Amino acid sequence: MESQKLKELDRVFRQHGIEAEDTFKVISAYYLNVHKPSDVSSLLEQFWIEGNSILERITNDNIAIQTLEYTVAFDYYGECLPIIYQFFLGKRFRDLSGKFFTPKNLAKFMVKMLPIKSNVSIMDPTCGGGTFLIEASKRWNNCSCRLIGNDVDRMLVALSETLILINKNPNHNAVFFNDNIFDVPKAQKQFFETIDYIIANPPFSLPIESFEVTSNLFKLGYRNSDALFIDLCWKYLKPSGLLVCLLPHSIITNKEYEKLRLEIEKFWEIAAIIVMPEGVFNTTSNTTTRADIVFLRKQSDLKNVSRIVFANISDIKHLNYDTNLFIEHYSELSNIISDFETNYVKN
Ligand SMILES: C[S@@+](CC[C@H](N)C(=O)[O-])C[C@H]1O[C@@H](n2cnc3c(N)ncnc32)[C@H](O)[C@@H]1O
Repeated sequence: MESQKLKELDRVFRQHGIEAEDTFKVISAYYLNVHKPSDVSSLLEQFWIEGNSILERITNDNIAIQTLEYTVAFDYYGECLPIIYQFFLGKRFRDLSGKFFTPKNLAKFMVKMLPIKSNVSIMDPTCGGGTFLIEASKRWNNCSCRLIGNDVDRMLVALSETLILINKNPNHNAVFFNDNIFDVPKAQKQFFETIDYIIANPPFSLPIESFEVTSNLFKLGYRNSDALFIDLCWKYLKPSGLLVCLLPHSIITNKEYEKLRLEIEKFWEIAAIIVMPEGVFNTTSNTTTRADIVFLRKQSDLKNVSRIVFANISDIKHLNYDTNLFIEHYSELSNIISDFETNYVKN
């Protein structure tokens, strides 16, 4: 959606004193009104009610209603909703809470690393705008799966759930939570040791003072969100479950993470590390943060991973997701993925 259209939406609602978060709510409610999904969570139901009560304030403004109608008609499946979120809640993205969306093509590439099997549970514990869950749901198109999303930000949980519901696939069931993952409430603990795949872009470098989970990395003195995220995923996954996530480049290279890397080798098998250049998030945020793709399998009694891919994408110009992203490494990666398909994923 071009910025001209976003500004127009902003102008139309501002005339009624509706702005920022409220504009996002009313637009989302309109998408929901058009699709009328059933089985909404209580969180989304509340968000939907709030959006509709804002909508009541503008029902006499034909231009505002037409603007909403056009927006949804041109974007029936809500692909623009994350952009709308970013535009109207931009300030939240600039604070220090590790919020930015993963570029869609990067998410798609990462989801392709997960072997397709029916009835798997796929989790994104920090799902943000739902980018990974949507891509997973597309890849699992004809296959059954369970999608589990969580984010600490209520508005983002509502966004992810809205997107999954309006793109509803009858083979899938989805459940969403609005929790702090480092606080692991009871409702989340039920998933420990049950998840087949985790796909995520966790918040980087947030200081974590207390962690509800028994964690070797915490005991070793690591207090940052990205490091502790690895231990949390280990808890969630079944033996031989797969983790594909983005982690800060410093974890892969810096001396201070040496003990963390040794710990990973003890409890995980490394399938691939793909070092990416600065600028991978250019399309969705201004951050210059460097992030690498880390592909791990939780250790189990299955045969060891027989190959490991280490790839270094040295320049942003090599990141062309639409053509043959990482072409020289992809054939090796595909071998690993097909190995997982045949031998390595425990049912
Ligand atoms: C880098 S963003 C990635 C979001 C998502 N993967 C996407 O691409 O849209 C990290 C996400 O982690 C969430 N987050 C930060 N701290 C969290 C916490 N303690 N518990 C759960 N989610 C958290 C943020 O709200 C944000 O949506």
